[in-house]
Amino acid sequence: MSVRFVVQTGDPVLRENCKPIRTFNSELWQLLDDMKETVRAENGAGLAAPQIGLPIRVVVIDVEEGFYELINPVIVSTKGEQVGPEGCLSVKGKQGTVRRPNKVKAEYRDRFGKKHKLTAEGFFARAVCHELDHLDGKLYTDIADELYDLPPED
Ligand code: CO
Repeated sequence: MSVRFVVQTGDPVLRENCKPIRTFNSELWQLLDDMKETVRAENGAGLAAPQIGLPIRVVVIDVEEGFYELINPVIVSTKGEQVGPEGCLSVKGKQGTVRRPNKVKAEYRDRFGKKHKLTAEGFFARAVCHELDHLDGKLYTDIADELYDLPPED
């Protein structure tokens, strides 16, 4: 496994409409393993493939509820609303206030191509919405009510 380079806002790959995965092979598994290592190395809650330069519909999410690999994910329903802080590994040094659904249901495939459903609430739902937006070339900064600078890291 290896930690991949995370591209920053301004890179056109972050604005692409990503392509679905059709082949669930060892190349995909390697990518997923690298994305897990990368999101953990960066202390992120999630990472989408375009963030490491690949315009394909692959996301990992690392939250209290568990570690998820979502391939070709689709949100099928949403409920309620939450307003809270959000950041992105591709927008270093910033945070914003973003309105999201409080609950989402999604369908996705696992690394073997098997279909699954998930229900996410609260921060998990926020992470699902944020990461799936990446697959459509959207960043949270597009929809943030406020955007502010974080203090510099040591
Ligand atoms: Co992000």
